[in-house]
Amino acid sequence: MYNFLPVAYFENRFIPFENAKLSIATHALHYGTGAFGGLRGIPDPQNSQQILLFRLDRHGQRLAQSAKFLNFDLSAEQIQSAIVDFVQKNQPQVPFYIRPFIYTSDLGITPRLHDIEKSFFIYGIELGDYLSPDGVRCRFSSWYRQEDRSLPLRGKISGAYITSSLAKTEAVASGFDESIFLNTQGKISEASGMNIFVVRNGKIFTPGVEQDILEGITRDSIIQIARDMGYEVVERPVDKSELLIADEAFLSGTAAKVTPIKQIENYHLPLERPITDRLKDKITGITENRDVDYQDWVFKIPL
Ligand SMILES: Cc1ncc(COP(=O)(O)O)c(C=O)c1O
Repeated sequence: MYNFLPVAYFENRFIPFENAKLSIATHALHYGTGAFGGLRGIPDPQNSQQILLFRLDRHGQRLAQSAKFLNFDLSAEQIQSAIVDFVQKNQPQVPFYIRPFIYTSDLGITPRLHDIEKSFFIYGIELGDYLSPDGVRCRFSSWYRQEDRSLPLRGKISGAYITSSLAKTEAVASGFDESIFLNTQGKISEASGMNIFVVRNGKIFTPGVEQDILEGITRDSIIQIARDMGYEVVERPVDKSELLIADEAFLSGTAAKVTPIKQIENYHLPLERPITDRLKDKITGITENRDVDYQDWVFKIPL
């Protein structure tokens, strides 16, 4: 099962993970009024005295943005500095995943975001591959991606993940690994916890930010890397049929990294994936501090 990092940040203190406990009456547990981040950390393969965090600044910003939607004043700098302290307290020796979480911590009822206490905690788990690096078999979800007019999709709001959970379980129960959401316009949006890219005739397509996606930090990185390599990357609505006949398609996310799609419904995608492989090698090299480019994306935390 999961191996948690030994120290958690909880109620403004660093304490043993086992002691970080919540009441069953915690407001956020009932109403989904939390928001989270998720970032990977790895011990630097070149220097055992430091931990590498990929785009810590962007993760801090996104969680601060989510906090705004929860009516909670928490700055990106406060989040970043708590994450750095968290890493230093834990001294991790293996790749791990950091989960910062903000939530309505009051006890009691009435769904609301005003006149209610909020808190912030951080814990970590050891994490290797989240999806098979060889590729995944996907289906289309029978549940549609939520719309930004119903909830703020630019936040990683915990309650929103009911839809991801339904879709993931539906996929696994019907013999697939992952689920692709269409949005309510019938265009491709994203997967249960990843963004999606399609390659056709040497060009790369990905649903734009107006397609009810989460603004993924890996997505943003892949777009920049691909453009710097000279590929044309087009952010626009993507049709279902484009995915079914793609030359290559892949998912991107902090947990999933770059994961090729090998099958979608009953359509098999080619096993040769030159563009996916190039992008994956490049981003892996960057996150492992083996690349001279994009150094400002790699935060080096001294131990
Ligand atoms: C719904 C959803 N879409 C996309 C992503 C990918 O985002 P990122 O690359 O920032 O991890 C995630 C993961 O955070 C997610 O939960």
